[in-house]
Amino acid sequence: MDTARRNQYLQAIGVDVWVPRRSGVASDVGWAESAKPNVPGVKTSGAPQTQLSPPSSVTPLRQDDEAAWQALRAEVKNCTKCPLHATRTQTVFGVGNENADWMVIGEAPGAEEDRRGEPFVGAAGQLLNAMLKAIGLEREAVYIANILKSRPPGNRDPKPEEVAACFPYLNRQIALIRPKLILAVGRIAVQNLLGTTAPLGRLRGQVHTFGELSTPLIVTYHPAYLLRTPSEKRKAWEDLKFARDFFHNLPPKVS
Ligand code: URA
Repeated sequence: MDTARRNQYLQAIGVDVWVPRRSGVASDVGWAESAKPNVPGVKTSGAPQTQLSPPSSVTPLRQDDEAAWQALRAEVKNCTKCPLHATRTQTVFGVGNENADWMVIGEAPGAEEDRRGEPFVGAAGQLLNAMLKAIGLEREAVYIANILKSRPPGNRDPKPEEVAACFPYLNRQIALIRPKLILAVGRIAVQNLLGTTAPLGRLRGQVHTFGELSTPLIVTYHPAYLLRTPSEKRKAWEDLKFARDFFHNLPPKVS
């Protein structure tokens, strides 16, 4: 991605960009002095931006994986395991590249997601897309899912029994995708995936692991929270860079 485009994405997520002091050093971008939504007049940066690995969607799914996806989709679509089935418009299964290296996991569908049947398509979704682009990732390259597949009325927090009912679906999605990295966004996703009540702020900047495959998991703030609290965007950008750098340093897959 060229610098101008990358800066546009950073601008969209409210991050100021400036030239690193040590001019001529091909270092990471300096950034995020202040984080305001749609800050006009992004300064400039000579820093290079490495494109993350392209989507591996060209890899065909194995036949048994395809059958497993189909079965899972059907189960989720017709799920009545918790009372949310009575109030939802439809389930929101997940979207993206089923061979993705990155999986983004949020909380639960909101009103727009419930209406359209796709995660992160409202205002928070627009910001999520911009956040991903800022680290060289297209929305289509990753897989996006939520802890809950049905919308809690009024966007209230998921209840533990709803999470317990729905979590096996997410587990199966993760097992099928086998991502190299999970990016958990927001307190609800983070705490449920890590089985902790620790505040999100204390879980940042570390590589956690999830599940039997010990999938690396990195946390950051929820885009909806960032829309309400733009001053935290700087920290989110730190998290994204941390995730990007971690991913870049993963050893190549031995097949
Ligand atoms: N917030 C989420 O956590 N997930 C969505 O799909 C939309 C908003």
